[in-house]
Amino acid sequence: MRSVTKDNITDVFMGYVSKDTDPRMREVLGSLVKHLHDFARDTNLTHDEWRKGIEFLEGCAAIESPDRHEFVLASDVLGLSSLVDMLHSSPEATSSSVLGPFHVSGAPPLAMGGDMKRHYGGPLLLAEGVIKDTDGNPIPGAQLDIWQTAPNGLYASQDDEQDVFSFHGLMTVGADGRYAFTTVKPVEYTVPTDGPVGDILRACGRHPWRPSHLHYIVTAPGFQSLVTEIFPADDPYLDQDTVFGVRDDLVMTYVEKQASEFPDGLALSGKVNTPFLHVEFDVTLMRD
Ligand code: BEZ
Ligand code: FE
Repeated sequence: MRSVTKDNITDVFMGYVSKDTDPRMREVLGSLVKHLHDFARDTNLTHDEWRKGIEFLEGCAAIESPDRHEFVLASDVLGLSSLVDMLHSSPEATSSSVLGPFHVSGAPPLAMGGDMKRHYGGPLLLAEGVIKDTDGNPIPGAQLDIWQTAPNGLYASQDDEQDVFSFHGLMTVGADGRYAFTTVKPVEYTVPTDGPVGDILRACGRHPWRPSHLHYIVTAPGFQSLVTEIFPADDPYLDQDTVFGVRDDLVMTYVEKQASEFPDGLALSGKVNTPFLHVEFDVTLMRD
């Protein structure tokens, strides 16, 4: 097409895409370009604004590394990661929620009833529940990959003071589908703001806080893997998570209990002599 105009450029673009192109690729790329063109037309985007957008992308690329995923963070604070999660969450299963950039794969096994708190200060939390299918039957042998920040609000991968796998554990549930572990009550923390994503947050007058949470990846043969999080109902940032990760079914009450109520059979049984927090969180997985 020789006579390209601001009104026909989207159709011209689609005309350039080969008929042999994979149909899904054609659909996704075509829709992306249509929305980009509409965005430029709707906002009457200026050269300066276009350049700022390109500089933002270049800034993300410049600090991207195996430990720093600025493009993912951008997707998170723009709500895209959570929207993709919600588009593919089933109402029968536990909601999925953002993976975030701080999960370290290959955590050491955490025995049933094991403890992740170790010598760290802060309130003791006992988390337990059942991994089940959509009919409510336990899923024996399901695996739970757990991670969270230390009480200083930093993940092990962000903090030279922590071991590589501190506050990470991989638990295999028993025949009854139950899991249980102790840890420190997670704290709220900020996403990194020293890169281009921080500039966007500041430009929008937005804070960088996430409500406190425990992260889980739950897997079992024959079931869809689930990446999710648990949030305490009294967290001050619950209604303003900067990455939009909170869902109703992921908000749980952490109940304070007396030391005498601490159950038997866990790593810390017999060693708890102050009140502790308790949360019950069952996870429902969809079959493949
Ligand atoms: C996290 O929960 O670890 C997280 C999620 C999105 C962006 C940054 C951190
Ligand atoms: Fe997190």
